[in-house]
Amino acid sequence: MKKILIIHGPNLGLLGLREPDIYGKFSLEDINKQIKKLAKEKKVSVDILQSNHEGEIVDAIGSSPKKYAAIVINPAAYTHTSVAIRDAVAAIDIPVVEVHLSNIYRREEFRHKSLLAAAATGQISGFGVNSYLLGVLAAIELINK
Ligand code: DQA
Repeated sequence: MKKILIIHGPNLGLLGLREPDIYGKFSLEDINKQIKKLAKEKKVSVDILQSNHEGEIVDAIGSSPKKYAAIVINPAAYTHTSVAIRDAVAAIDIPVVEVHLSNIYRREEFRHKSLLAAAATGQISGFGVNSYLLGVLAAIELINK
């Protein structure tokens, strides 16, 4: 069974409590349950990592091709700051789908720039929990090509 790595970046462990008007009322656990349900239906397997640490995310991306067919990542605040995560994505040869719960282009100007976007296969932004589910579907399409 093909495996997809889901990466949740910094502060996403606080979902549910964190600015619910922007990010919704779902906890990360709720989101992970929905991702796992979809993966089961689509017969792929998922591993899920949440990390507040840039280096840990860089390591996970760098070692991913050994074990995974694709990555779905919400880099959270690192989207806008991390050259290291962008470079890690550019260094690997598996599809990477960037997802955001909120529409980053409708928010503060500093969120309009994703350093990762040009290195990722594509980006889904603004659909709440469905951004992750659409991201997983996009990853499945890419790995079944
Ligand atoms: C986010 C958007 C980022 O700007 C923010 O820093 C996050 C979450 C989103 O999912 O909408 O932490 O990636």
